Amino acid sequence: MTDLVATARSLFAPGKGILAADESVHTATTRLSHYGIATSAEMRRQYRDLFLGAEGIEEYLSGVILFSETLSQKGNDKKAFPKSLAARGVAPGVKVDLGTEPFPSSPEELITQGLLDLAERLQMYKKQGALFTKWRAVIRIDGDQLPTSVALHENAKRLASYAKEVQTAGLVPILEPEILLEGTHSRMRSRAVIEETMQTVFSVLEEHSVDRASVIIKTSMALSGAESGKKDTPEEVAEDTLSALIASVPRQVAGIVFLSGGQTPDEATANLAAIAKHAKRANAPWPLTFSYARALQDEALALWKGKEENVPAARAAYLARLAKVSAAVLG
Ligand code: 13P
Repeated sequence: MTDLVATARSLFAPGKGILAADESVHTATTRLSHYGIATSAEMRRQYRDLFLGAEGIEEYLSGVILFSETLSQKGNDKKAFPKSLAARGVAPGVKVDLGTEPFPSSPEELITQGLLDLAERLQMYKKQGALFTKWRAVIRIDGDQLPTSVALHENAKRLASYAKEVQTAGLVPILEPEILLEGTHSRMRSRAVIEETMQTVFSVLEEHSVDRASVIIKTSMALSGAESGKKDTPEEVAEDTLSALIASVPRQVAGIVFLSGGQTPDEATANLAAIAKHAKRANAPWPLTFSYARALQDEALALWKGKEENVPAARAAYLARLAKVSAAVLG
C-alpha cells in the first residue's frame, strides 16, 4: 500500500469521520451573521477554535478539512491549528478550490475555479501540514433540464485535473460533486443524477490516469428536493443512495464520505445510520463515513453566539452531536 492510500484509508477508522470546517470567508460570514456574530479574521479564528480546540474530538474525528486562512492561524493553545490537530491524531486537510462561477456554455449552471495556480498552492499547504485536500463542484437539478451533460463533463474534467495534480504533489484528493438539495425534484431524480454524475467523474478520471485507490468521494445523499414537499424516510434515503453509488463508484476507491447539504443535524444523523446499516447488509465494497459542516456545527453555533462564556455549552452540544454521528456510522 502506498503512503497516499494509507493516509486515505486512515480517514475511515471505525466510528470516525471528517469535520468540514472549510467555509470560505464569504460562507463563514454568512453562517456567523445568521447567529448575530459579526466577522473578522479574529472572530473566524475563535470560531475555528471552538470546533478544533474542543477536548476529545479525536475520539470521533479522523480528519478536519480547513480553509486556507485557518492553516496559518493559531488556536487558543498558541499552536498552529494543523499542528495541534496532528498532535491529537486528527489529519489536517484543506479546501483547495476557489469557489464557483457561471458556466459560459450554460450560465444557469456552475463550474469550479482554482486550477491555475494549484501546483504552487499545494506546495505551500503541504509545508503548512495538510495531508489531504478537497475540491467541490456544484450540480443543480432543475426538472429534466439540469444538470446538462456538458456542465457535468466540464466539472468532471476539473475534478480529474485537480485529483491528478494533488496526487502528484503527494496529497490525498477528496472529490466532492455536490448535488444540491434545493429544488422541487424527487428522490428518484436525485438518485439518477448522483449516478450519472459519478459515472461521468469516473470515466474522466480514467482518461486522466488518476489512481482510484487514493481517491475519496464526497457525495450528497439521494433526497427529495427541499421544495418538493416530500420527506423521505431514512430507509428510502439509504436504499436509493446506495443503489446509485453501487452502480457508479468503483470498488477500488479509498472510501466515500457524505455531506449534510442542509439537512438538520437529526436528519443527517438518522439518514447516515440507515445508510451504514444498509451498506453492511448490501456488502458495499468501500468504507463510508461522514464529512459534515452544518450538521456538526449548527447546534453549537446557536449556543455560542460569539461569546467566550458560552464556549463550554457550545462544545458540549458539538461533542454530543459527534458522538451521535459516530454511533450512526458504526451502524
Ligand atoms: P455540509 O455538511 O454543510 O453540506 O458541508 C459539507 C461540505 O463540505 C460542503 O462543501
